Amino acid sequence: MSSHGRLGLAVLISGRGSNMLALAQACREGRIDARIACVIADRTEAADGLAAAAELGLETRMIEATAGADRSRFETALAEACDRAGAQLLLLAGFMRVLSAAFVARYPGRLLNIHPSLLPKYKGLHTHRRALEAGEREHGASVHFVTAELDGGPVICRARVPIWPGDTEQSLAARVLEQEHRIYPLVVGLMASGRLALTANGIELDGQALQAPIEVDSAAE
Ligand code: GRF
Repeated sequence: MSSHGRLGLAVLISGRGSNMLALAQACREGRIDARIACVIADRTEAADGLAAAAELGLETRMIEATAGADRSRFETALAEACDRAGAQLLLLAGFMRVLSAAFVARYPGRLLNIHPSLLPKYKGLHTHRRALEAGEREHGASVHFVTAELDGGPVICRARVPIWPGDTEQSLAARVLEQEHRIYPLVVGLMASGRLALTANGIELDGQALQAPIEVDSAAE
């Protein structure tokens, strides 16, 4: 715990920040027993997201990573900002930057990401387009612990959505995003209450090894 008493979260964004807002709302409503210690963006495209966070009274930082600049300098500034704000759990929320193994190692079991696919399928970019092109009948979102392998860390939770005939990248993305806003707060809530952790033996939920990712059914709303 931080000096502020409750678990501190750092939310890292690169875009509009809708997942960040879903996390902030869950903290406000007590579904996550934690406080957002800071919201950090790495590019100007996230300026609106940062402004929305500031409007909620959250501490915000822009740490721009300019092209060609030294990655380790950016990561040092990022870690310093998180640590100074008292954040113990780092949440990548549409954060479009690959973090180095050295950075990841600073936060063992304390770095999460939301990814718009049913991992391990469709790691990387353009997941909706690729799922449509492959003729998939379902798609979804996953929350996972971050490791040095891009979108490759242990998967905690997945939400499935159907793919309908006539779906476009946009319609599918919107259906998946709704589930992202559901499962990210759910997982962070479990972490904040101490029920979920990454141990040397893998993911544990309520002290038991998690044999398979928690599956959330989008139809069960
Ligand atoms: C989400 O779909 C996230 O999964 C992906 O980028 C999008 C970010 O959306 N990595 P937002 O910035 O949280 O609105």
